[in-house]
Amino acid sequence: MVILYFITFLPFVLAGSNCTLPNFSVGDFNITSEQHFKDTMKQEEIFLLGISAKWCTHCCQIEPIYAEVFEALEKLTPKIKFVRIDMSKHNFIKKHIPGTDQLPLLYVIKKGKFYRHEDLMKVENIVSFLDKIYMPVSTINSEDELEAFFEAPRENKNFLRVLGIFYENDDSEDSPLKEYEKTAISLANWIGSKMGILTNKTLIKELKAKGSDVVRCYNCLALKKKDANIKILDLEISQNIKEWITTAGVGIVEELTGYNFQVYKEIALPMLVMFLDKHNVNQDYYINILTKVARDFDEGIKFVWMDGTDPMIKQRKKKLGLVTEILPSMAFNVLDDRILPYKEGQPITESSIRLFVSDFIENRLASKNIADIRPNPELESKYSDTPIVTMDEFEEKVLSEGTDVLLLLYSSYQNEDSLNLAPYFNKVAKRFKELNYPHVKVYRMDTATQTVHKNVKIDHVPIIYLFPAYHKNPPYVQYTNEAKVPPMMFFVEKYVDIKFQLPELPHLSPDQIGPYWEQKAQLSPEKQERVAAHNERRNWDL
Ligand SMILES: *[C@@H]1O[C@H](CO)[C@@H](O)[C@H](O)[C@H]1NC(C)=O
Ligand SMILES: *[C@@H]1O[C@H](CO)[C@@H](O)[C@H](O)[C@H]1NC(C)=O
Ligand SMILES: *[C@@H]1O[C@H](CO)[C@@H](O)[C@H](O)[C@H]1NC(C)=O
Ligand SMILES: *[C@@H]1O[C@H](CO)[C@@H](O)[C@H](O)[C@H]1NC(C)=O
Repeated sequence: MVILYFITFLPFVLAGSNCTLPNFSVGDFNITSEQHFKDTMKQEEIFLLGISAKWCTHCCQIEPIYAEVFEALEKLTPKIKFVRIDMSKHNFIKKHIPGTDQLPLLYVIKKGKFYRHEDLMKVENIVSFLDKIYMPVSTINSEDELEAFFEAPRENKNFLRVLGIFYENDDSEDSPLKEYEKTAISLANWIGSKMGILTNKTLIKELKAKGSDVVRCYNCLALKKKDANIKILDLEISQNIKEWITTAGVGIVEELTGYNFQVYKEIALPMLVMFLDKHNVNQDYYINILTKVARDFDEGIKFVWMDGTDPMIKQRKKKLGLVTEILPSMAFNVLDDRILPYKEGQPITESSIRLFVSDFIENRLASKNIADIRPNPELESKYSDTPIVTMDEFEEKVLSEGTDVLLLLYSSYQNEDSLNLAPYFNKVAKRFKELNYPHVKVYRMDTATQTVHKNVKIDHVPIIYLFPAYHKNPPYVQYTNEAKVPPMMFFVEKYVDIKFQLPELPHLSPDQIGPYWEQKAQLSPEKQERVAAHNERRNWDL
């Protein structure tokens, strides 16, 4: 079965294609026929195979990287060949490989077996992959080698080391040792990881006697991530080697990147992906609540986050059914073709994430169709008195000092509440314009189409903030009272830096004020009370 997530990192496609001519000049030689390919497989114990095609526009962009790889291979002893196939000429290769619709493809072929490299971004990753297929586990033979093996370079945050300690040096096909070696090969795309093996009985005994923190038992695995304690799997208790390594190797909630994607693919569980703005001041808060939920569900689901402001990631986010610019947002990345987004603009809290996950587990989520964002004429007409502010204008209109700004963040995409708020908010905008206080501005911003500024928290829409004229740093004052015109207006009056006083009945135009008092006078005392409570100045808890 081919496992397919909507979010994958395979293959890496360079953005901004400017290159249409295929250029397959890099390599040792081109394959000219199927027989030629078979002969090559016999002759070369291990080689690199780059598959491209005339019709593949991304293929020539990868050639400069190949050129560097080729150069690096030249320096190896024994030299490893870089063989090329043009798939538009030699279709037979399709028989050997799945998923040939996505080119370019890069394989290491060892003893006739294909190992696909999944991240074409960096030369050193390709070379390290080749290295790992060539020698999946490195043998540790002294205490110094052990120390060097576990030493983390400062800049490598993807650092991961696994050491297999096998006192019983059993070489049979189904032994833990063989299983361990197979796991090492299957995780070769896990960039930053290295797997080692320690079988020297004398050394194992010595280290154990010394109280080494790595060699704590005779047959076990030791795993170390950067800045974390060593984890141990005692093989006498459990032999789920691959499962243990993949699970222990990823954190409860990690950023999903090309570096660890391979591991999540091996784990092959549904993932809940949260998209965040990496620069937003609230991002840690969201990772924290996601982590809290993840702790309770970590058995059957993996929890990851991604930077939703990255253009490449935005495209992937869309495939999961998240079409607006609203961040954070979340969706499941599953192994079948269901599209399961969390409704965009709905509040994201610890309990709402928990509910979303439970709904997923209990099969209560229905797969969605991906719809495009379309202009919403009904909404536009209802908000016609509220000027729009865009991301580009945000600093100038909202964050520059000297103007008190009331801002509504809403979504024009499938968000009933944004529509329902329109009559009230639009009235607020209209009245402030008519009352003409020079330092007060009322704006709206459509989060379906606009990225929100990094200082602004939107865990749901619609949301209303006041940005006081001389306090433009977060947190901003949020309006949380009823969706009614008078309290919204008095809220502005209360929190602005440049003070003014609203008239009584600020929401009414001058010609409505007289009739208001007249009509009110004709009501029963209780009704008068109620009408006053809705309209007249009082101590709202704003
Ligand atoms: C494409 O090529 C043109 C002309 O050489 C150049 O001006 C432009 O910046 C290139 N675009 C990209 C995306 O590389
Ligand atoms: C093809 O690649 C070679 C070597 O990298 C380079 O010199 C040449 O200009 C490329 N040709 C085209 C058409 O891109
Ligand atoms: C492979 O074929 C292409 C086009 O047919 C040619 O330009 C290129 O030099 C060849 N590469 C090698 C390594 O022989
Ligand atoms: C095994 O370890 C011992 C003790 O450290 C060492 O003296 C010996 O050379 C090692 N054996 C091999 C084959 O490397």
